[in-house]
Amino acid sequence: MPGIVVVGTQWGDEAKGKVTDFLAENADCVVRFNGGANAGHTVIVDGKVYKLRLVPSGVLHHKRLYIGNGVVVDPEILIQELNSLKKEGFKPDLRISDRAHVVFGFHKVIDGLQERFKGNLRAGTTMMGIGPVYSDKAARFGVRVADLLDRDVLEWKLNLLVDLAQRLIRDVYGGDQVLDKKQILQQALGFGESISGYICDVSAEVNEALDRGETVLFEGAQGTLLDLDHGLYPYGSSSSTVAGGACTGAGVGPTRIDEVLGVVKAYTSRVGAGPVPTELTDAVGERIRSVGHEFGTATGRPRRCGWLDLVPVKYSVRISGVSKLVVTKLDVLSGINPLKICVGYEADGRRLDSVPASLSLFAKCKPVYEEMEGWPEKVNWQRAVKEGYSGLPRQARAYLERIEDHVGLPITVISVGPERKDTIIINK
Ligand code: GDP
Ligand code: IMO
Ligand code: MG
Repeated sequence: MPGIVVVGTQWGDEAKGKVTDFLAENADCVVRFNGGANAGHTVIVDGKVYKLRLVPSGVLHHKRLYIGNGVVVDPEILIQELNSLKKEGFKPDLRISDRAHVVFGFHKVIDGLQERFKGNLRAGTTMMGIGPVYSDKAARFGVRVADLLDRDVLEWKLNLLVDLAQRLIRDVYGGDQVLDKKQILQQALGFGESISGYICDVSAEVNEALDRGETVLFEGAQGTLLDLDHGLYPYGSSSSTVAGGACTGAGVGPTRIDEVLGVVKAYTSRVGAGPVPTELTDAVGERIRSVGHEFGTATGRPRRCGWLDLVPVKYSVRISGVSKLVVTKLDVLSGINPLKICVGYEADGRRLDSVPASLSLFAKCKPVYEEMEGWPEKVNWQRAVKEGYSGLPRQARAYLERIEDHVGLPITVISVGPERKDTIIINK
């Protein structure tokens, strides 16, 4: 099974980091292909918490790591992350695509100003400059990682880009930040020097790894509903978060992908703005947030929580060609009875089974629920980890089987706690 893609099927934070780390033990390398430091992927091993933003979640298994061309690299955050991993005793074996785009400080400034300008259309971004840097990429103003090593090209590009950014800040959005071109250039050259040893043609290396029969994990960031094309535009992010993004964002062809794992959190969480049909603003939502520690990994913001919504999950399966499901955070629902699962929407007197493109229609969607019996608050999850699927409470098995039935795919891994070891592999 050489090419395996891991994607989020909801609004992000499905525990892709934990799942990727778990799978990385049996992989040769792990590749990030989209997003940037807006991602926050948590991996917990023996009580030690690692929050990864740009470094792929195979680092704790000492695997070869790649940052693909589809990622936007914030050099400052990357260098900080690498230094803190080194302090912990890891030696990240990292390669960064020469074609990945670079995030500058002014992208973050513009991110904040654009959010203010957008009013009700703001997504509640992570303020990591993601929208602005992908805009520059699409408009062909952007600076690529390779440019950091080429003073002439860098100076020439920054001359234009900084002028443009300054005008946007001052003349369009009324901001008062003053950009210093010389300082930005010097800093960028410094970043280039610091990361020069990591820069390469990632597409060439990843394809060679696949040619050798190595197992390559492609680690998605964000989730389907945050995808630039297929998400709840404009309440999403600016990259390709779906499985196809692994091809464009790492430079591999679709024929190299053998498996697409769709990660499903056992309930819904959303950090940011926009409609969430199954959101719970009551004590149950509060309970899920506090038991599930649903606070943004990158920003610390409280996540909006609600019942599991299978409409986005099924939609995601279609868009990404998901072949198997991974269900996470099942333990968080313990002691809630009954549980509800959303299997469709109702809006304007009709039934919807998929995510509509119309914002106003989506905002009107009322969930159609099925009730399921909950399982007791106290469950010996470690026993279930030892015994496997049959060791799970019968109500939890029924919950999982309902997901499989509705989505039409098997579940292959179940996560029942934040630690790497709290994981069950299913061999039905
Ligand atoms: P990602 O962005 O998809 O990698 O997910 P995040 O790391 O942002 O959020 C997932 C959160 O849930 C993290 O705090 C994880 O430590 C935690 N977590 C992961 N799997 C489980 C699980 O099965 N049960 C519980 N209780 N927590 C989990
Ligand atoms: P991981 O990889 C959850 C959300 C933001 C905001 C919208 C746009 O950890 O699952 P951006 O900063 O990308 O322009 O913000 O997308 N968002 C995420 N939500 N998990 C993430 O990543 C996210 N990355 C961005 O909250 O609503
Ligand atoms: Mg996250």
